[in-house]
Amino acid sequence: MSAIEALGKIEEQREFEFTDNDFKYIQEFMLRETGISLSERKTSMVYGRLARRLRRTGLDSFHAYFALVNSDLDERVAFVNSLTTNKTQFFREKHHFDFMTNTMVPEWQRQKQKRIRIWSAGCSTGEEPYTIASTLAASGLLTPSHDCKILATDLDTQVLEVAQNGTYGIEASKVIPSAMLHHGFIRGKGKKQELLKVKPSVRKAITFKQLNLTAAWPHKGPLDAIFCRNVMIYFEKDMQQQLIYRFWEKLGSGGILFIGHSESIGQMGSRFENLGQTMFRKP
Ligand SMILES: C[S@@+](CC[C@H](N)C(=O)[O-])C[C@H]1O[C@@H](n2cnc3c(N)ncnc32)[C@H](O)[C@@H]1O
Repeated sequence: MSAIEALGKIEEQREFEFTDNDFKYIQEFMLRETGISLSERKTSMVYGRLARRLRRTGLDSFHAYFALVNSDLDERVAFVNSLTTNKTQFFREKHHFDFMTNTMVPEWQRQKQKRIRIWSAGCSTGEEPYTIASTLAASGLLTPSHDCKILATDLDTQVLEVAQNGTYGIEASKVIPSAMLHHGFIRGKGKKQELLKVKPSVRKAITFKQLNLTAAWPHKGPLDAIFCRNVMIYFEKDMQQQLIYRFWEKLGSGGILFIGHSESIGQMGSRFENLGQTMFRKP
């Protein structure tokens, strides 16, 4: 079967009519509102995710669904939520947290720096900010003698609910090093023994907030580190450069920008010292 025949077959099987113009409308909406760039390769994924919304809302056409998205704020949020990609994991790209423990923490200690501000930008379901917080806890920084705060933000309100809850399946503990597991998490007991819960002392260090990276940012004062990992891959080059410039502005001198393994900072590289392994220091 040729690719065109195969495509025809997929379309035949579609429950709702989904035209090229429907896809273009979604592409333009997402680019304008969120910076997320959806290529044609994502057509089936987009259709599949939104078909669920059509069923949920009882509508029978994309045309009617777009009208709802434009008139109902809740559906607009659900529409955007359904088109984000939220894959994440505790201690993803572990070398970033080794660098925190082995280089950043000793530097803060040498300089007697007590105020630490970190931003997890695009935090998804919370594994990234809890990884940061448990790393700080294992280094003895989440104590009353320090002022450590982590801001964790995401565009998607649904993943933020999971993040705020701070409860995960016990299998997640397999990738958490034992010191961080000990300082950051509690295993459930009895009926909850299949659950892993973040310790309240660690949870307390994090503020979760809905934030679109394309909009204004709330921070006051310079940041010591920004984690924006596996988020920029969804944006176009110009948008990535603008974002990195804004991160550079927000970092204090010596502050570190962490990005994802398949991302790069392009021309903005001239403003940072490249530390290798997708870590960049603002001089
Ligand atoms: C693949 S996850 C990465 C999670 C985590 N940083 C990690 O590396 O494991 C990407 C996250 O970026 C968020 N995101 C996408 N566009 C965004 C935007 N314009 N503003 C804020 N967050 C956005 C998505 O909702 C999603 O949760």
